[in-house]
Amino acid sequence: MTEPPHPDIATRRLLADARGVAEAAGILRAGGTVAFPTETVYGLGADATSGEAVAKIYAAKDRPRFNPLIAHFPDAEAAAAHGVFNAAAHRLIATFWPGPLTIVAPLAAGSPISDLARAGLPTVGLRVPSHPIARALLRAVGRPVVAPSANRSGHVSPTSAAHVLADLNGRIDAVLDGGATQVGVESTIVACVDEWPRLLRVGGVPRADLEAVLGEPLAEAGDAIVAPGMLASHYAPAARLRLNARQVEPGEAALLFGDCDLPGVDQAMAAINLSARGDLAEAAANLFAALRDLDAAGASSIAVAPIPNEGLGEAIRDRLARAAAPRP
Ligand code: TXA
Ligand code: MG
Repeated sequence: MTEPPHPDIATRRLLADARGVAEAAGILRAGGTVAFPTETVYGLGADATSGEAVAKIYAAKDRPRFNPLIAHFPDAEAAAAHGVFNAAAHRLIATFWPGPLTIVAPLAAGSPISDLARAGLPTVGLRVPSHPIARALLRAVGRPVVAPSANRSGHVSPTSAAHVLADLNGRIDAVLDGGATQVGVESTIVACVDEWPRLLRVGGVPRADLEAVLGEPLAEAGDAIVAPGMLASHYAPAARLRLNARQVEPGEAALLFGDCDLPGVDQAMAAINLSARGDLAEAAANLFAALRDLDAAGASSIAVAPIPNEGLGEAIRDRLARAAAPRP
């Protein structure tokens, strides 16, 4: 672990009222870093047009520089100046923006989004979040804002300001505290750069909803276009995860779903149910906080109950699989 760049300077916590939003916008316009809530997870924002500001994000997160960032906008009109949209992109945008969908498109000529933000790629990830605080902030900044999830690279994504500070206190200028996020998993990423719309990351918009709008199945990422950030081991808590567990072993913590109680759960070091009523949206919203809380309970292994592979369940299973993958 590297030392914070400014160990003596604590990150400021700003209330997400009109004054806090204006202050956060001022910091971003001056080239600083501010974490802010979106409907998916908290993002770590910086001015996308300033290579210097973007470099602070990579440093604060310890993020590899080959991993490009998503640029955020208050509305589709503002985003349109930065990407070249094909027919599929237009359809998806009309239905799902604002909302938890990122479109990867060829960079528009003349866009000032910095090379570093795109990790040198000829494409750019564009997103219009639906969170009212995020939109107010983006409107006030008046420039594209890059925002990866506001966690240390490889850690669990933050769904509250407290999660952000647990990872980044002293490493970023401020966090705009807008309470817990609603969706809880990151945006779905679709690449619209060749004739097939390709699903690069499952996320807040379920695959079936996208395919219903497109009228055809989504292609997989393929070799040419990938999201470089989708490393196998990611979203990793300190504890090991044991997926599709049928019982809880002695000394384990338990992550449950629905009304099924795994045998041995009464002996668990800690147990959290993502959604006792079996609601996948509720489970997604609770996922990352639950991983952090079970980690804090100190178990070295977490038994994870089976999660159905439908709707938001696909994104939940994806994040759990990455959290369970062998660490580099
Ligand atoms: O919900 C979200 O998308 C959150 C909130 C804050 O907006 N952001 C987020 O950013 O999850 P991040 O950096 O943690 O994940 C972005 C992913 C990475 O896997 C990155 O490789 C991919 O998007 N990506 C960004 N630009 C890309 C591009 N031009 N081509 C392919 N993949 C791209
Ligand atoms: Mg991330």
